Amino acid sequence: MEAKAKCPSLVELMMPEHENPSGNIFGGVLLSKIDIAGAIAARQAHPGRVVTVAMDSVIFKKPVLRGDLLICWADIVKIGNTSITTKIRVEVNRGGEIIQVTEAEATYVAVDAKGIKIPVGTKDDGTVVKPKLSDYCVACNGEAHGKSEDESKADAEDKSKSKQCKCSKKHKKSKKHGKKHKCKCSKKAKNKE
Ligand SMILES: CC(C)(COP(=O)(O)OP(=O)(O)OC[C@H]1O[C@@H](n2cnc3c(N)ncnc32)[C@H](O)[C@@H]1OP(=O)(O)O)[C@@H](O)C(=O)NCCC(=O)NCCS
Repeated sequence: MEAKAKCPSLVELMMPEHENPSGNIFGGVLLSKIDIAGAIAARQAHPGRVVTVAMDSVIFKKPVLRGDLLICWADIVKIGNTSITTKIRVEVNRGGEIIQVTEAEATYVAVDAKGIKIPVGTKDDGTVVKPKLSDYCVACNGEAHGKSEDESKADAEDKSKSKQCKCSKKHKKSKKHGKKHKCKCSKKAKNKE
């Protein structure tokens, strides 16, 4: 399963305090931003606390410089029993030019208040929410982006169901369907409507 981000998990302007003596942004600063971006994505699958268990395959392809706008995109690539694996792509906006600089994979484990691992989706009260698998936006919950293909399909199915009469024959509602049920179905179906 995969859930792709519709917008970045994190956007931050790189300041002089992020620089190392040679003028590039510290790798450690970038790692912390990547960690935060991945954890924000993991929250889409798990509503509670997560801890980082692993950061793998971090590749610093190009340097990040002071004044760059750092943009971290984090997709969920795998949901296990207690773990959520994310892939983070980092790019910078440097004077309007978008440059891919880093990518990494980070895995998070869902934990309870004591830091003990728990199944993904378990809330504090013990109830379990099914992980959201559709594409997502951490900032607006998808409202500013329109619907994903899966969501649109589900909506279309719901719409076509609502056009059907609720009687057992599942025929389409006639134009006369309104306050009174005009089809020749049983009284039972009338009550349902
Ligand atoms: C994360 C932690 C709770 C895991 O506890 P644990 O009892 O050792 O758990 P397990 O070894 O059974 O692993 C739990 C899950 O993580 C996954 N995992 C463990 N090590 C992993 C690794 N190196 N890479 C990827 N996934 C890993 C396991 O596959 C398992 O996933 P699943 O349940 O979906 O199959 C524990 O190791 C811990 O507290 N670590 C410190 C976390 C921390 O302080 N992070 C930094 C600050 S947030």
